Amino acid sequence: MNERRSGAHAIETMQVEERRYPPSPEFAKQANAKPDIYETGFDEFWTREAKARVSWFTPWADLYKWDAPYAKWFLGGQLNVCYNCVDRHVEAGQGDKVAYFWEGEPENDRRRITFSDLQREVVRFANGLKQIGVEKGTPVGIYMGMVPELPLAMLACTRIGAPFTVVFGGFSAEALSDRLNDMECQFLITQDEGWRRGSRVPLKGNADAALEISPLVKRCVVVRRTGGDVQMRQNRDVWADEILKGASDDPKSCPCEPMDSEDLLYLLYTSGTTAKPKGIIHTTGGYLVGVATTHHYIFDVKPDSVYWCAADIGWVTGHSYIVFGPLCNGTTGIIYEGTPDFPDKDRWWSIVERYKADILYTAPTAIRTHMKWGPEHAKKHDLSSLRVLGTVGEPINPEAWVWYRENIGGDRTPVVDTWWQTETGMIMITPLPGITTLKPGSATQPFPTVDAAVYDEEGKVVPPGGGGYLVIRKPWPAMLRGIYRDPNRYRETYWNRYQDTYFVGDGARVDDDGDFWLLGRVDDVMNVSGHRISTIEVESALVAHPAVAEAAAAGRDDPQTGQAIVAFVTLKGGREGSPEMLKELREHVGQKIGKFAAPANIVFTPELPKTRSGKIMRRLLRDVSEKRPLGDTTTLAEPAVVEELARRGHEEAAKEEA
Ligand code: PRX
Repeated sequence: MNERRSGAHAIETMQVEERRYPPSPEFAKQANAKPDIYETGFDEFWTREAKARVSWFTPWADLYKWDAPYAKWFLGGQLNVCYNCVDRHVEAGQGDKVAYFWEGEPENDRRRITFSDLQREVVRFANGLKQIGVEKGTPVGIYMGMVPELPLAMLACTRIGAPFTVVFGGFSAEALSDRLNDMECQFLITQDEGWRRGSRVPLKGNADAALEISPLVKRCVVVRRTGGDVQMRQNRDVWADEILKGASDDPKSCPCEPMDSEDLLYLLYTSGTTAKPKGIIHTTGGYLVGVATTHHYIFDVKPDSVYWCAADIGWVTGHSYIVFGPLCNGTTGIIYEGTPDFPDKDRWWSIVERYKADILYTAPTAIRTHMKWGPEHAKKHDLSSLRVLGTVGEPINPEAWVWYRENIGGDRTPVVDTWWQTETGMIMITPLPGITTLKPGSATQPFPTVDAAVYDEEGKVVPPGGGGYLVIRKPWPAMLRGIYRDPNRYRETYWNRYQDTYFVGDGARVDDDGDFWLLGRVDDVMNVSGHRISTIEVESALVAHPAVAEAAAAGRDDPQTGQAIVAFVTLKGGREGSPEMLKELREHVGQKIGKFAAPANIVFTPELPKTRSGKIMRRLLRDVSEKRPLGDTTTLAEPAVVEELARRGHEEAAKEEA
């Protein structure tokens, strides 16, 4: 390819992480991925994987068609996702294999669901839905907690060929209604209540409020979970157990609908730079091939693996790597309903021990939380079954990476830092365990065939060491097929910046080994005295200080330097901040990155404001640092945190001015 090279770096990056973790020879020997995986040609790779991992009712005629910015994959092919995830495993004699170990939040509330159980229950669920009018093509909303009926509902929809949207159970009534209205859902599946840290989440109550303003939804199916009292509106609401009571569980009574490879599978809404969430479109064939293939190689999944992705199914991680990827591969998975500290902070580790999980996939924010609680909770349990650890969702600071490997992985397991997005559907940049030499904080290499690069403002490739904008230059099977009913926004958000090249919206740099380092969203990039720097670098530096548990950085306007950095810091062991600590941390960051990056101001806080998915609410931090009135806080997990933070931030700012 004729690449123009850029002299200047679009984003400056200074931090150097020198620790290396090459694969052990024993791991490499047994790994699913062999080094020649990177040499396989694009067409050959996906042709081989699509045949190996997915059963097709009708074989596809063309591998893919790229009519930028729209891709189609496996054209002419027909398949059914539920058939691939459930029925074919039973047909292949795997009916007694466990599909999910489910663990409710209340202790000793457990279910063991085999692939045969899953098949019977999905068939019954699908028959129940058909009975009340769900057909091929009927849009269905799903608003549930982490109960087995959530994947059942998703699979039942795919069996019928009904596209669905899962709305995370932590969203408000208004957010739910927005999504139901955008997709024009006619049905909603929800549950009475969910369990969260010992209290009840009123899912049906929220759904009632949402349905007041979502008039297109004509029926609402309610799964009983807590048995709590809920209102049932006549002619609209129906208990799941009532429609399932008489429904057949014989697979022949509800055959898997043959779907076109490019038929809509689901929409998943994600936020962008405007208030209106984007309905990201995922279709059937390419998505399934993409998630099954990446799941197999990246997590080194074996036939007897017990795999635990501790995300919520309401986010893309759960769609791709709790439900569709693992089930397509016939993998035994774990689903846990509740929070990691219920009833105690060792709950996760008791689950790993009980089911002898060999693969654990979670988010940096969760790892940092466990770090804050201390390693003693993990030490109470035998975690020796673990073979592979994964992270996703945000850049992981090297300290958290190393903590995870040492305290959870026994300093033995590879840690795969997987970069991807709701839009990409599947993991895109990631180590392959057994091949890749790991570097804490780096997502390392593009997955085989993924053509990732770092561009400057002009679309020139930034040379090694320099930061810029992450782009993807070739289509991939699980890529989004658009934003639902908004082709203009699709082009504007992802395709207008560079010609026929997918604009990710993340900063990145590539090092001399060709490894990728993600620098956070480009709107998290600060510009201090003409130095552009990512919030994550400041945060990593802060967290590398032994007293710091968690940190976030934001830019605020500064007449002298353009922007000044404000850091929000939680100290370990509940310690309060002091002027001495402030000085020490500023020097520490100055040492790690450069003086310009030392925060002008540090706000000590017992808790950072996070969304319910665990992402730090940077927009709010920016508001606090700019002393602006606070924006919308409705998606916050703990709204009180930010009010307290604003108070402290304003106090600090007043001191600074004084
Ligand atoms: O900024 C990147 C960050 O999360 C964004 C995608 O968020 P979402 O669509 O919610 O999906 C999260 C789960 C796939 C990306 O644009 N991100 C995700 N994984 C990583 C990451 N940033 C750095 N390193 C990662 N491994």
